[in-house]
Amino acid sequence: MDVTGQTSLPPTVAWSGDVSGALLLLDQTVLPDEIVVLRLETRAGVIDAIRRLCVRGAPAIGVAAAYGLVIATREHLGAAADIGDVMREQAARLAEARPTAVNLRWALERCVEAASAAPSLERLLEEARAIHAEDEQSCRRIGEAGAGLVPEGGTVITHCNAGRLATAGDGTALAVLFHAWSQGIRFDVLADETRPLLQGARLTALELQSAGIPVEVVCDSAAAGLVARGEIQMAVVGADRIAANGDVANKVGTYGLALACAAHGVPFYVAAPRSTFDLAVPDGAAIPIEERDAKEVVAVAGEQVAPRAVGARNPAFDRTPAALITALITDRGVLRPPFAAAIKTMFEDGR
Ligand code: MRU
Repeated sequence: MDVTGQTSLPPTVAWSGDVSGALLLLDQTVLPDEIVVLRLETRAGVIDAIRRLCVRGAPAIGVAAAYGLVIATREHLGAAADIGDVMREQAARLAEARPTAVNLRWALERCVEAASAAPSLERLLEEARAIHAEDEQSCRRIGEAGAGLVPEGGTVITHCNAGRLATAGDGTALAVLFHAWSQGIRFDVLADETRPLLQGARLTALELQSAGIPVEVVCDSAAAGLVARGEIQMAVVGADRIAANGDVANKVGTYGLALACAAHGVPFYVAAPRSTFDLAVPDGAAIPIEERDAKEVVAVAGEQVAPRAVGARNPAFDRTPAALITALITDRGVLRPPFAAAIKTMFEDGR
């Protein structure tokens, strides 16, 4: 049993066998009602699973893509092909699956770089396994770094799902809560339902409930009012990408929650591993925001609720400026403002 107390769910991401093996993904689109494990052996299958959010959450996408590169390279390796060229071409194709979470590109670049001197499927698989193991470790460190920030007897709000289902370990934002709970700190959690795809209601609620942590689901639009009424003492969320200045892209609705917390003096924390930082983007404005199918907005759980043919906008993420963030909880410790300097130091330290 892990720190979340979960024994019943299969791993979020796994690899079965050697280089001729397959990527196993717990299909998150059907949780919590059904437990389905997808067995993927083609590039198209991996890209489709990432796009449809069968696997989701920045770190989990990175791990899945790393294994996906073994599959895609194997599939497209013709007799006369140069394996180095094939892996680079396949990495570029996989990187297009989703645009906002930088872990996807980061993991693929790391695999290509690691295998570039002597490209082979074995070397690619070895690097994917290393990324997988390191993510587990990063989650643990984030949990340890942030647990002391959780207020005894308080109520914590979180948005989307930044837990075990979003990583290869115990999560980022939820690792903080799982670790605090295992240390004997007692608190309640409000999980934003996270429209349109309900990652909070379906996934975060499932994870916290399984761990025995008191959790209630709230409509996203209820959060600001509850913050204003003094009913929330802390907010903690994950991140899909953090810019060099500390601006954060995360699930749409994060910015509104951060604004409410800032207006009412509630600490707002973002938990993420170093692999989610992108020093190539100076600030949030440079982070691409994924626009998803409008059908997700006009329907709830697949049922059309808006009038047929009405238009809809569906930005999947938003950008929270660094000025609204109290601290960044990382696998290298808690970073405080000014974030640009703290982030730079974290990367220079290279630990
Ligand atoms: O669209 P999703 O479900 O992949 O969005 C996920 C999030 O926004 C998470 O908060 C983020 O990836 C951090 S996961 C540890």
